[in-house]
Amino acid sequence: MEYKADIGVFGGSGFYSFLEDIEEIRVDTPYGAPSDKISIAAVEGKRVAFLPRHGRDHRLPPHMINYRANVYAMKKLGVTRIIGPCAAGSLQPHVKPGDFVVCDQFVNRTWGRRDTFYDGPITTHIGAAEPYCPEMRELAIKCAKKLDLPVHERGTVVVVQGPRFSTKAESREFSGHGWEVINMTQYPEAILARELEICYVNISLITDYDVGLEGNPDIEPVSHEAVIKVFNENIGNLRKLLIEIIKEIRVDKRDCICSEALKTARL
Ligand code: ADE
Repeated sequence: MEYKADIGVFGGSGFYSFLEDIEEIRVDTPYGAPSDKISIAAVEGKRVAFLPRHGRDHRLPPHMINYRANVYAMKKLGVTRIIGPCAAGSLQPHVKPGDFVVCDQFVNRTWGRRDTFYDGPITTHIGAAEPYCPEMRELAIKCAKKLDLPVHERGTVVVVQGPRFSTKAESREFSGHGWEVINMTQYPEAILARELEICYVNISLITDYDVGLEGNPDIEPVSHEAVIKVFNENIGNLRKLLIEIIKEIRVDKRDCICSEALKTARL
C-alpha cells in the first residue's frame, strides 16, 4: 500500500470520530482485520489516520480488540507516531475527573491478549523500561500546559482485563501500590507500537474514581454510563489537545528510543 499517513490516533470509549473531509479505507493485515475502517485526513498540514479501537459502534469489548491488527495497519499506512487517548479511572484523590494524565508507566493485569508480532522463528526482546515515547510525552505535556488543561505529567496505569470493573479489594490493592490510573485498553498497544518502532503516547482522560473514594459516600462506583457521560463533557478539551499535539509534531525528525527499538532487540 502506498504511504498514506504520518500520525495515527486511536479513539477509545466515547471517541468514535475525529477528522473532517476524510478518506475512509479498509486495511488488511497478516494479523486479521483492524477494529474498523480507518479515516484519513489532513490536519495542520499532516496526514492523520484515525481508528476507533472498539469499532465505531463500540462492538468490540477491550479483551476482543485485535490490537496487533490495529497497530500493524497504522504501520502499513506509514505512521511513525501514534497518539492513544483513552477514558480511564483515577486511583488517587488528587487525580480528578476531567484531568489528563500523560502516563509514563503501565502495569499489565490483562491475560490472553496477543502482545507481540514476534512469535518466532525470529526472537525479539524489545526494551520496555520506558514504555511510552519520551519525546511524545514531553510534547503532549507542553501542549496541555499551553492550552491550560489540568494535566498530570506522569502516572502509572494499571491495565485490567475487563470487561467488568474492579472490586473494592482489587482497587484498594492498585491504589495501595501508589498507581494513579486504571483502564482496560492500554495494554498491549504501546508495546506493539514499540515492536514496530512507532512512537506511542497515552493520554488518559479521567472519567471516574473507580470504586469510589474512601470516606466520601457521595462518590458512586464507576458505571459505563458515567464513563461516557464524563468523557463527553471533556471531549472538546481532548480534541483541542490532539490538534495541538499534531500541529507541533515534527514528522521528519525523531531522536527517541522508539525509532531504533529493534537495533538491540535481536542477536
Ligand atoms: N475506564 C474508565 N474508567 C475505568 C475504570 N474505573 N476501570 C477500568 N477502566 C476504566
